[in-house]
Amino acid sequence: MKKVVFFILCALVLSGCGPYTKAEKAQLKAAGVYAQAKDCTHTDSVKKMLSGDFQGKYIQSYCDLDISSTSGVNTLLKGGVPTKVVQAMINRENYHGSLAKRYAAYYKKQKTSAKQTILAVNTNQDLEPYSKTILVHKDTNPAYLVNKFYALPEGYEPRDLKPIQSVCTVGDTGCNSDELYLRKEANTAFQKMVKAGKKENLKIVAISGYRSYDYQLNLWTTNANTYGQDYADAYFARAGQSEHNTGLAVDITFNDHPFNEIENYKGYNWILKNMHSYGFILRYPKEKEKVTRYSYESWHLRYVGKKVAKTCFEKNWTLEEYWGNQ
Ligand code: DAL
Ligand code: ZN
Repeated sequence: MKKVVFFILCALVLSGCGPYTKAEKAQLKAAGVYAQAKDCTHTDSVKKMLSGDFQGKYIQSYCDLDISSTSGVNTLLKGGVPTKVVQAMINRENYHGSLAKRYAAYYKKQKTSAKQTILAVNTNQDLEPYSKTILVHKDTNPAYLVNKFYALPEGYEPRDLKPIQSVCTVGDTGCNSDELYLRKEANTAFQKMVKAGKKENLKIVAISGYRSYDYQLNLWTTNANTYGQDYADAYFARAGQSEHNTGLAVDITFNDHPFNEIENYKGYNWILKNMHSYGFILRYPKEKEKVTRYSYESWHLRYVGKKVAKTCFEKNWTLEEYWGNQ
């Protein structure tokens, strides 16, 4: 039955009900499109059409692909992505035509769905860390991305750093007596979270806040020299690529509890459940190491603002995934 309907439709198109002018139809006939266009799921036939003189709009009609208004479609088809997958890709809101070549390469290699391919490429999972580093110049949106692909300029320092009130000064794991800083908005939010924690009998303290470019350079270099580059890159950001440099990240613990064991502390669940209400997210979660490119850090929180934090919490997204879905 389906076949019959298909042939009737084809016949209608061929007999003049199609969306073409006479001249266009003649051009199509001359190019042999009618013969090839039947199979839109077959990349070869679409490729053949693309290599002809005729424009994408003809293929759009046959294959239901909006080639004329969507950039990157030809690149995807030429890259071997089946038309059905191309269709699914360009219909997604987070599809970016400028990334078509990378979508095609990733799809070919991984054979994942359109959705997974787009998210993976949008979050740079197809790239080597530290390759194609982009310098970040705007720090007005508290959710802006700093990672192994987005770096702050050398010597960057936020203009509105304020001392953190609740810091860890006792205990010997991770605490020191230095004054710690966060940017104003993040600082106020942190104070509110500390206050709310107090009502739950929790003493939330910061053990690290803003870190300068040079401090981070020294931290990474010391670790690389001592434990090797792979270890340093798993746990420490390179200079300019640390969220601590933004003044929007804070490492926490409770009282003088060792910071790298806080997930065993009874109050940790409260943090996991509530921090988004104050605008914070757990920046390097377990199971997301392929996305963040860092090992799990139970102590590292990032201020992104309440709205983004809520979205990340509800959708179980990292900040990379938040941006990759835009
Ligand atoms: N530990 C995190 C990745 C940093 O060094 O910024
Ligand atoms: Zn940290």
